[in-house]
Amino acid sequence: MASLTIRQLDERLKKLLRLRAARSGRSVEDEVRTILRAAADEDGGEAAEPISPPASKSPRRPAIAPGVKRVLLIVGGGIAAYKSLDLIRRLKERGIAVRCILTKAAEHFVTPLSAGALVGEKVFTDLFDPAGEFDVGHIRLARETDLIVVAPATADLMAKMAGGHANDLATAVLLATDARILLAPAMNPRMWSNKATQRNLAQLVADGVALVGPNEGEMAESGERGTGRMAEPLEIAAAAEKLLSAGAERPLAGKRLLVTSGPTHEPIDPVRYIANRSSGKQGHAIAAAAAAAGADVTLVSGPVNLPDPAGVTVIKVETAREMLQAVERALPVDVAIFAAAVADWRVANEGSQKIKKKAGQATPDLTLTENPDILSTIAHRKSQRPRLVIGFAAETENVAANAKDKLARKGCDWILANDVSPQTGIMGGDSNTIQLVTAKGIEPWPPQTKQDVAAMLIARIAAEIARS
Ligand code: C5P
Repeated sequence: MASLTIRQLDERLKKLLRLRAARSGRSVEDEVRTILRAAADEDGGEAAEPISPPASKSPRRPAIAPGVKRVLLIVGGGIAAYKSLDLIRRLKERGIAVRCILTKAAEHFVTPLSAGALVGEKVFTDLFDPAGEFDVGHIRLARETDLIVVAPATADLMAKMAGGHANDLATAVLLATDARILLAPAMNPRMWSNKATQRNLAQLVADGVALVGPNEGEMAESGERGTGRMAEPLEIAAAAEKLLSAGAERPLAGKRLLVTSGPTHEPIDPVRYIANRSSGKQGHAIAAAAAAAGADVTLVSGPVNLPDPAGVTVIKVETAREMLQAVERALPVDVAIFAAAVADWRVANEGSQKIKKKAGQATPDLTLTENPDILSTIAHRKSQRPRLVIGFAAETENVAANAKDKLARKGCDWILANDVSPQTGIMGGDSNTIQLVTAKGIEPWPPQTKQDVAAMLIARIAAEIARS
């Protein structure tokens, strides 16, 4: 059969073909095939194939090769939006296919034309664009991606996400997606540190959203400095790549985590001991959440009435000294979380036999001596110090101030401070109210179950590891 080359057609025909193809959203070759099929059909040709329905008018995404990762970039309205154009290039350099949504506010900073030229296809802007909705639509945008990157993530976008709003294309897609979300926040430092933003951030992290930045530095506003600068495109691209390769559900795959949990029992004699009211619920929930996130977890636990979490190596100990030994043996690890309520003191003159109560004799004197501080010992190690050392501060007064002081004294990176006064019911209970204390400041978390605290902490750790 003779072959037909479009290049050999006359100019007028070529122009007409190009116009038809553009109108129907087909390639010129496809347009020719469609015309030929239709002609054959009109002729009643028995061998003719059915004509495919006309394509919609919006340009289609070029086919993506199998195995190529897809990022949907949502650009929010902030001065940092110009950096997102560079981010598109950085993602594409890494072989990642990029689609782009601009919010209405973003269009004040970058145009659909410039973003579209870089992604190489139509940029999406409207939730109620009939052509767009028929062709791709917000549900397809939400599903046909491996990762959504929001850069810049403005305070407003974060608030809408935390509240589950869906009143424009960007927020509707964010609500409809199952894909992992990476936020690159960018805003004025006061907006960033505002309690409302921090509350929204805590909610988003609890929801499993990953973070890159914000960084510290000069703001667009002259003379302003602080935390709020969007991470650089290279940092965002690297964080995106890590998330894409780590897999959405297992952000801690390949990482080793150590968790201590429960109380310690310090013997007075072979049958009596000093203990505390720790149930181990929080530590065990953290070990379970870390294992669910793909980490290789060692849980060193004092005596508790809890089942061993699934998929976790559990080492059972009684005393603080045994706990320290087991912790040191478990090194090296990437992250160590010290949730155990270790007894501060043990009995120095521990009886080797049961101390007898004898009529008329004085009560025995128990001399106490200090136990090793496991958290501080590990945080101050010169070698094999975990990348992230996290402690708890169970306080009954001045919670935040004591925790800040403890952060410095113990040499750890984060402290999860909680009020364990009897009226809070935290000790032994099922819920917890945490304030996360880091070198950057204090972040109050909402009251929630110990499982939710664990999930929020693990998401936070995963985000920290992804950016370091
Ligand atoms: O000093 P304080 O007991 O309040 O510190 C609490 C934090 O230190 C918790 O993370 C706890 O697991 C850890 N710790 C420890 N070894 C000790 C005492 C506390 O690891 N001997």
